[in-house]
Amino acid sequence: MKHLLKMLDLSKEEIVDILNLADQLKYEQKHGIKHHHLAGKTLGMIFQKASTRTRVSFEVGMFQLGGHALFLSSNDLQIGRGEPVQDTARVLSRYLDAIMIRTFEQKEVEDLAEYGNIPIINGLTDFSHPCQVLADLMTIREYKGRLEGLKMCYIGDGNNMANSLIVGCLKMGMTVSFACPEQYRPSQEVLDFASEFDCFTLTTDVMEASEKADVLITDVWASMGQEGEALQRRKAFEGYQINEKVLSVAKSDAMVQHCLPAHREEEISGETFEAHADEIFDEAENRLHAQKAVMVKLMSK
Ligand code: CP
Ligand code: NVA
Repeated sequence: MKHLLKMLDLSKEEIVDILNLADQLKYEQKHGIKHHHLAGKTLGMIFQKASTRTRVSFEVGMFQLGGHALFLSSNDLQIGRGEPVQDTARVLSRYLDAIMIRTFEQKEVEDLAEYGNIPIINGLTDFSHPCQVLADLMTIREYKGRLEGLKMCYIGDGNNMANSLIVGCLKMGMTVSFACPEQYRPSQEVLDFASEFDCFTLTTDVMEASEKADVLITDVWASMGQEGEALQRRKAFEGYQINEKVLSVAKSDAMVQHCLPAHREEEISGETFEAHADEIFDEAENRLHAQKAVMVKLMSK
């Protein structure tokens, strides 16, 4: 593994390796065992979109690994004034040991990887959010003791989270049911991948999708960059909500995950959010541990 660009690039073995290392690093951190695997290394973090969790967890993670993280807002970089990503990649490769980037187009992340010669980590694009899904898989495994054979039901927009969850869960041997309005399906590339699996279903019926689910996951109806469509989306997604009614047909011990930020009473009811807050904030915490594992895998050579 040279980069973390999207879940489609990872094998099951690579995912398992990351999750195992993440569990170990979490244990070590909780027990005060130092793990300065990245002493003297620097991670550059380019942000073209807002972030709370990604920014803080990467920066703290790098510090805990003995390294340093540099916050690079695109407003302050020449990239924001049109310097090509191909040139930025070649320049930053001379200074940094890895780059984490949050941006719009997946192609920009792929270009950084192609033109630079250091590991690139996708910190969210319109197409994918692999760091979040690794943290989700870690959390589900922590709660359920396994991933294989579990049913993950996603309700909502076929966005970056959806694309990455479908691929990550199917690769880990989970059953995936996906409920969304017709016009908000996941990307065709992901649906083509999923069509090879008998255990994948796509429906517009929220109750059907939720039946006997072990894990229910949702995300905002309007992602970053889609603020102008918020009203239209609010109408289109009416009913595509995780709430007590939906949970009543899932397994009695079903867990709920949400990558956050959450919009209560839109994609998730306030009641359900609070009832599952421990699982959701463990998921947020696990961003730190999962990303530390990714950085160690990519940067410690
Ligand atoms: N879930 C997530 O990526 O959160 P941020 O947008 O706050 O980084
Ligand atoms: N789908 C959301 C995820 C935020 C972490 C977005 O892209 O805004």
